[in-house]
Amino acid sequence: MTPKHIEEQYDAVIVGAGAAGLSAALGFHRSDAARALREAGVEPKVLVVSKLQPLRSHTGSAEGGIAASLADMEPDEWRWHYYDTVKGGDWLVDQDAARLLAEDAPMTVINLERSGVAFSRTADGRIAQRRFGGHTSDFGARPVKRAAYSADRIGHQILHTLWQQCVHYGVDFAEEWYVTDLVLDETLRRAAGVIAFDTHAGVTRAIAARNTILATGGAGRLFRTTSNSHDLTGDGMALALDAGLQLEDIEFVQFHPTGLAHTGILLSEASRGEGGVLRNADGEAFMASYAPGHADLAARDVVSRAIRSETDAGRGVADPRDPDGPKDCVWLDMTGIDPERMRRALPQVVETIEDYAGLDPTKDLVPVKPTAHYTMGGIPVTTDGEVYVWDGERRNIVEGLYAAGECSCVSVHGANRLGGNSLLDACLFGTRAGQAVAARVADDPVAAGTPADPALSDALDAAKTARDADIDTLLADAKDGDDDNAYRVMDDLSETMERGVAVLCDAGSIARAQVVVNGPIAERARRLRPHSDARTFNQELTAIWEARHLVRLAEAMIAATDARHESRGSLKRTDFPDRDDATCLNHSMTAAGAAPLRQPVHVVDIEPGARSY
Ligand code: FUM
Repeated sequence: MTPKHIEEQYDAVIVGAGAAGLSAALGFHRSDAARALREAGVEPKVLVVSKLQPLRSHTGSAEGGIAASLADMEPDEWRWHYYDTVKGGDWLVDQDAARLLAEDAPMTVINLERSGVAFSRTADGRIAQRRFGGHTSDFGARPVKRAAYSADRIGHQILHTLWQQCVHYGVDFAEEWYVTDLVLDETLRRAAGVIAFDTHAGVTRAIAARNTILATGGAGRLFRTTSNSHDLTGDGMALALDAGLQLEDIEFVQFHPTGLAHTGILLSEASRGEGGVLRNADGEAFMASYAPGHADLAARDVVSRAIRSETDAGRGVADPRDPDGPKDCVWLDMTGIDPERMRRALPQVVETIEDYAGLDPTKDLVPVKPTAHYTMGGIPVTTDGEVYVWDGERRNIVEGLYAAGECSCVSVHGANRLGGNSLLDACLFGTRAGQAVAARVADDPVAAGTPADPALSDALDAAKTARDADIDTLLADAKDGDDDNAYRVMDDLSETMERGVAVLCDAGSIARAQVVVNGPIAERARRLRPHSDARTFNQELTAIWEARHLVRLAEAMIAATDARHESRGSLKRTDFPDRDDATCLNHSMTAAGAAPLRQPVHVVDIEPGARSY
């Protein structure tokens, strides 16, 4: 008998509709396994749930390019891409996964092109490519043009193309549903599906699924200065923590060097790929002294730290909009780029600078500072997207649970991601996760579309009952006039995280952040109530869950940062200034409220070495 709350049984539910989620849906529908099912008269049931309308997903704001050794402009090889990715990640990269990433990158880009992505072109019609930080030919010898681009709007192109393809395949979408719970059976060995709050109808939905793919994106909103939209609240990662799972390498957060001052909005690395340079208050192009080989196109962690060194040494500049404010910016000088080329290749960057800073980048210097951009860590997955739990000795797969994209960690980015590798990761490993799920559905002796076993249905039923009770309490206590709210909590949290663990930190700054986050901020998040008791379109209700997710994630991030006693990639601990391969060449595996376990890095054929740029 179907339990009372189970409204629908799916073969797969995909949470998130950015590049990873949509690639997973397409990977499923285009797979041989799905085709075989259809030929056998079984129509698989797949649902994509998103808290946004899919075309609002943050993938749409990716700018500069997607990395692949197409060799359309210059000689290139996947082996060089592989080496750069491992080195760029400061050797905290699982090399089997990174090899796959680099080897399958050209195919991934060609598939996108065939699906309809309008890449910029060379004069002879090939896909145009540009330089991005840390991408080189001949194992680090010289920079190479590897980022395939579409002016500076590659994310917009990819998102729209994937969405149109999903529409073509008849993918079902549940838009503006917020997933509140990931439901596993009590052994943590099997996934039962998710509980989602349908913001239009104002009701919870229990979505029973034999396979769940989390593809919810990143968590830039943990920090005050961020390139991420307001929706990047680490939901998938927090759902995993809440369900008792671990996060891998969650202490590694990338700060992109060129966030527009006062907003953090991304000014694409393409601006430096096209010839822009960073200058300090004295007008000096300082990157040459930090990275003699690659200067402004060194890896992002190197450039962000160089900016911080310049500003700490008193060579920073204030945002011209706030001349008496902190001198925590440097100049991005794009005046050497031919203005016509700039407008053609970087329209988004130009528009952002004009609209948000009132400056003309063809003539003016532009104030920039590092901005939280990407979480290298996330839900641990295999190269087929299967979520696992590390028990100190081996990986234990959670049956029916997958993750892809920024919320996951397949460990191709290690301690610092190279530009252009995130769209690649999302599209490639999203597709692989979808294919793996389709194969599982086709292989399963239970016919597609039939209910899961009672233990899973019971778990889902219990989770829905608990969530309904939580919502009833929140709405019953809705109170006008209380001056705390979710947005304030998120603001204070992001300030605390920025002071405690961003770009540079030490035991003192980490401890101070921990006291505030685990204490008063967590308590305020627990006490939050909406100011309206409306069930439908009550955005404060979802903001409360988002705030709680961010707090949950911040606690894990602080714990993992505290436990890593070295400096590597994006994590610079001033009290442990060196990389320590002897004791720290391992992944942190952090569950809520627990000290991280350690999982060895998969070193295949590239031994950790010096990391000069
Ligand atoms: O700078 C950029 O265009 C960002 C690209 C990326 O994060 O991959």
